[in-house]
Amino acid sequence: MVVGVVQTAARIPLARPVLDEEMSEAAIHALQNERFVGGESVHKFEEEFARYCGTKFAVSTASGTAALKLSLIAVGVRGGQVLTTPASFVASANSIIHAGATPKFADISIVDYNIDPAEVRKAIGKDTKAILPVHLFGYPAKVDQIREIVSDRGTAIIEDACQAHGASYKGKKVGSLGDVGCFSFFPSKNMTVGGDGGMVVTDKESIAQSVISLRDCGRAKGSKYLHDLVGYTERLNTVQAAIGRVQLKHLDAWNGKRKQVAYKYTELLSDMKELITPPEGNTLVNPVYHMYVVRCEQRDNLKAWLDQAGVETGIHYPAPIHLQPIYKKMYGYIGGEFPNSETLSKGALSIPMHPSLTTDEVKFVSETIHEFYGHMSKQ
Ligand SMILES: Cc1ncc(COP(=O)(O)O)c(C=O)c1O
Repeated sequence: MVVGVVQTAARIPLARPVLDEEMSEAAIHALQNERFVGGESVHKFEEEFARYCGTKFAVSTASGTAALKLSLIAVGVRGGQVLTTPASFVASANSIIHAGATPKFADISIVDYNIDPAEVRKAIGKDTKAILPVHLFGYPAKVDQIREIVSDRGTAIIEDACQAHGASYKGKKVGSLGDVGCFSFFPSKNMTVGGDGGMVVTDKESIAQSVISLRDCGRAKGSKYLHDLVGYTERLNTVQAAIGRVQLKHLDAWNGKRKQVAYKYTELLSDMKELITPPEGNTLVNPVYHMYVVRCEQRDNLKAWLDQAGVETGIHYPAPIHLQPIYKKMYGYIGGEFPNSETLSKGALSIPMHPSLTTDEVKFVSETIHEFYGHMSKQ
């Protein structure tokens, strides 16, 4: 049945963060029984997150941006260049500037929307201190191919896994594929801490130790008021770590539900010539569908149509990073430099994706999209 726009009542949100009783109780318990900063929950959350990712260390931070910035400082990018993708949230590149380096871009593959290793090979130079691939929309980037390119150069790989908690590539969790992995717990992510938060994961003790110090005012190990780095106050609060511990327990189940939603959308939408559904996983690539992004004709009209039908959508992102006003101003980009990223920005539409979406809601969204193109073809 095709449901008409006017008949709709229910509003279907783009994302729906979970806060249940267990999380509230964990938060209150932490507030009443632990130090507000640096409490036991922080250490436990870090241990559990490291175990989950399969890395030796996890260091929590105040945000995903802080995780990226502190990791970049820890691997020593200051004064050099860092290569990243223009198709990401602006924080991926901002963190490079915050760390005292210059962001350089390499275009994405138009198939999986992640940085294209062939473009990395072309763009890498003697000043490239690190590569920062982003696992965009929860789909793992080809970090092994990037590793091959940098293997004899000593260039660090810092994964921006802010949208990909739990995704894996060739049997390894994202975050553990490069030298460092960075996560965000902003409320729209696959798991949150009930506010801003981030995590750095790594097998390298020296990097973990630097981030521990940098997030905590540059304190020397074991000292209260001796500082051997110029650090920041970018720690994760105890109450948020306590919420994060509960969320982490649910992450795999939630990701499983996201996958079911994604499969259903793809089943219902893949017959449409006006629209390209997201890349699918396979035996080697296990995506976690942070977002379900279609590329479509008449994107803005479709967005308005869905909006009227009570379906919330998003555009991730209306401009690639190099065409953000501040990047144009600072680096002189004018458009046309990274055509695949620009194509993605022009056609991308994120439709509702979260673990609590029902099959009926998925069908309703899909039918509303069909109805739009049916309507347009009669115009
Ligand atoms: C790809 C990507 N990188 C970095 C960030 C920054 O994370 P945060 O908002 O926690 O600073 C985000 C989140 O918004 C993101 O999606």
